[in-house]
Amino acid sequence: MECRIFDNYNDLSDAAAELILGIVERKPEAVLCFATGNSPVGTYKALAGMAKERGTDFSQCFCFGLDEWLGVPPEKSGSCHYLLFDQVFRPLGIKEEQTHLFNGMTTDVTTECRIMNGEIEHVGGIDCMLVGIGLNGHIGFNEPGVDMESGAHEQELHESTLASGQLYFNEPTAIAKGITLGMGQVMNARTLLILANGKSKAEIIHKACEGPVTNDVPASYMQKHRHAVLMIDKEAAAALSK
Ligand code: F6R
Repeated sequence: MECRIFDNYNDLSDAAAELILGIVERKPEAVLCFATGNSPVGTYKALAGMAKERGTDFSQCFCFGLDEWLGVPPEKSGSCHYLLFDQVFRPLGIKEEQTHLFNGMTTDVTTECRIMNGEIEHVGGIDCMLVGIGLNGHIGFNEPGVDMESGAHEQELHESTLASGQLYFNEPTAIAKGITLGMGQVMNARTLLILANGKSKAEIIHKACEGPVTNDVPASYMQKHRHAVLMIDKEAAAALSK
């Protein structure tokens, strides 16, 4: 695992955008996967600006959404679907047919997951997956205790995930479960880009980077990933000893 520490969130976001652009410039038909949440917002802004400036072409890429809140419709602002189109796909000119996202309104989660797993296999796996880290060490909606070889699955969400999730919506929204790519898919991404910023993430970054590799802290598995790049700011790095 490569760990890069930045002076501030802007530098971190620029570097993360640069990494993604580099992948797409080398492989225009790259398969990408994106998380939502606060951590990548700066990266998505930087990515749109830099792609426009450099004329980077995303028209041959294929993109997956990492996760979704079950029971939340795609058009609702705050859903992962809404945020990915708003922050990533539309600004980069990525069309709907170049994307595959979970449908939070599915009444058949098993089929939804089977189709997602099949799509990822069909396109030959994910070249670059961008993720954040939850305060409890979750990646996507893979909560502590998750099967580390899992594919797409439904997940009961922890209190802390529900509390921080509520903040993405502009009105109180009933959320209890998520649907997510599994840790098997996270571990299989050819590049895993992990972002964290701010002092609230310092303790979990310490555990994930310097603690034991355990499914109690799913993010700790990045230590074993064949190409994980962790980008954090100084505040999130504050509890690291090395
Ligand atoms: C969201 C997701 C979550 C977040 C994590 C960190 O799509 O997959 O795992 O990445 O909860 O959230 P922020 O970035 O808001 O701190």
